Amino acid sequence: MKNIKDKLKKILIKYNLVFVIKIKQSIYRIINNFLRKLLIILAKYFYHYHMEHLICNYNNDFMHEINFVDSYEKAMSVDPSPGWSSGRWETNQFGAWILYTTLHFSKNALTLEGDLVECGTYKGRHSIAILNYIDWNTSRNKKKFYLFDTFEGLSNKISDNDDISSYEHAYKDYDLETVQSNFSKYDGIEIIKGVVPFSLNQADITKVSFLHIDMNSAKPEVEALDYFLPLMVKGGAVVFDDYGQIGHEKQKKALDAYCKQHGKLIYTIPTGQGLIIT
Ligand SMILES: C[S@@+](CC[C@H](N)C(=O)[O-])C[C@H]1O[C@@H](n2cnc3c(N)ncnc32)[C@H](O)[C@@H]1O
Repeated sequence: MKNIKDKLKKILIKYNLVFVIKIKQSIYRIINNFLRKLLIILAKYFYHYHMEHLICNYNNDFMHEINFVDSYEKAMSVDPSPGWSSGRWETNQFGAWILYTTLHFSKNALTLEGDLVECGTYKGRHSIAILNYIDWNTSRNKKKFYLFDTFEGLSNKISDNDDISSYEHAYKDYDLETVQSNFSKYDGIEIIKGVVPFSLNQADITKVSFLHIDMNSAKPEVEALDYFLPLMVKGGAVVFDDYGQIGHEKQKKALDAYCKQHGKLIYTIPTGQGLIIT
């Protein structure tokens, strides 16, 4: 079948009929967009969860908990998502279930020894929501929450050229002082500005119960995992934000290769996140 397609393509190119391929591609695109929009409209009637790329009818009681809704609102207040307007879940492109995963495992960390760490904080959408959800100042019991980021986007000191060019203009639209002030009312927060992995040893971390990796780049993510894995306590969780997301296959491949060498397996969550319980 592929051979026939290739031959047909060659004939069309030979006789200057490339426009036929372009028309075909445009028709496919229009049909695809139409079907996707139809699916979203239908999902609103037949499924009670339909956000980002996840449509399902599983129990989502967490979305009705006041603490969850409030934490979600806090996340949106530091970094609004396209489509979010006055608390309307269905218009928002930032999936509630994604946040719920990180909130759940950060809460679990409170039952364990060890600090919380995030590599890739940006404006602090996840971390602010976590601090609010677990009522950090009263529950932390001397734990610290370490937040690592360049606060300037990806770095060519570690990320490869493909990743750098994909995110050339990303993560540069804020000032660090605003981010710092968002965290100022919380105790035990350490914001470490620098390039992961080179910045990691600036913090004196010996035990970790929750690690969130979200740098959108394969090499620093593998390096961060390599650094923190030996520090993870039993029952702790490593959550990878983009592991199973479309467009992040390079991260998945690199993380899987690392895990294979080190006898670990990453579980793909239907939210697109990845998970290791240590
Ligand atoms: C997708 S954003 C993180 C989003 C954040 N977790 C949230 O909840 O909104 C990716 C972040 O990773 C940071 N980053 C990318 N490569 C990095 C590296 N090698 N060292 C430190 N930070 C890095 C970027 O600056 C950017 O802020």
